[in-house]
Amino acid sequence: MSQILIAYFSKAGENYVSGAMKELPVGNTAHVAAMLQERAGGDLWEIRPREPYPDGYRDCVARSKRELQEKARPELADTLPDLSAYNAVILGYPIWCGTMPMPVWTFLEAGDFSGKAILPFCTHEGSGLARSVEDIRALCPQSQIGEALAIHGSHIPESGDALDSWLRRAGL
Ligand SMILES: Cc1cc2nc3c(=O)[nH]c(=O)nc-3n(C[C@H](O)[C@H](O)[C@H](O)COP(=O)(O)O)c2cc1C
Repeated sequence: MSQILIAYFSKAGENYVSGAMKELPVGNTAHVAAMLQERAGGDLWEIRPREPYPDGYRDCVARSKRELQEKARPELADTLPDLSAYNAVILGYPIWCGTMPMPVWTFLEAGDFSGKAILPFCTHEGSGLARSVEDIRALCPQSQIGEALAIHGSHIPESGDALDSWLRRAGL
């Protein structure tokens, strides 16, 4: 039996959805993470930065670009869960500037993921997984990185079948 942790980063608030600025009450990645928990069970854990990102899209892009350039590792608001309780980690994030938001890097460096299966998924607005999977591989060389799934932000409501078959292929 897999003990599954669904760890995800997501930002509610202003964002582009299919070219239009929208106010999202629940972030896209949080939405998918909840759909995955309904299907696979497991524990949800939100990767929250100690200093929340600005609600406004432009300010958020400016900070994320700066953090990426500076190879920042923003502090997290919460202590990591006890990872020894899990053998599979579903890792969800939005694509920000071609990769994962920097708090996800903080999370992957702070925990011991060696010997665990990591199953990445992202939500995005067109760039798919971009560089994120290579970055996860480099951050977690002792983990088994499974098939990664990319979901366009505007296709989430109808992504249930894709989630089911992805989980099935991963044996979860
Ligand atoms: C700071 C920032 C940078 C982004 N960079 C990209 C990008 O490089 N490629 C892309 O396809 N979408 C990009 N997006 C769009 C998000 O990946 C997309 O809207 C995602 O579904 C948001 O998930 P969330 O609501 O869980 O935060 C960016 C959004 C933000 C806020």
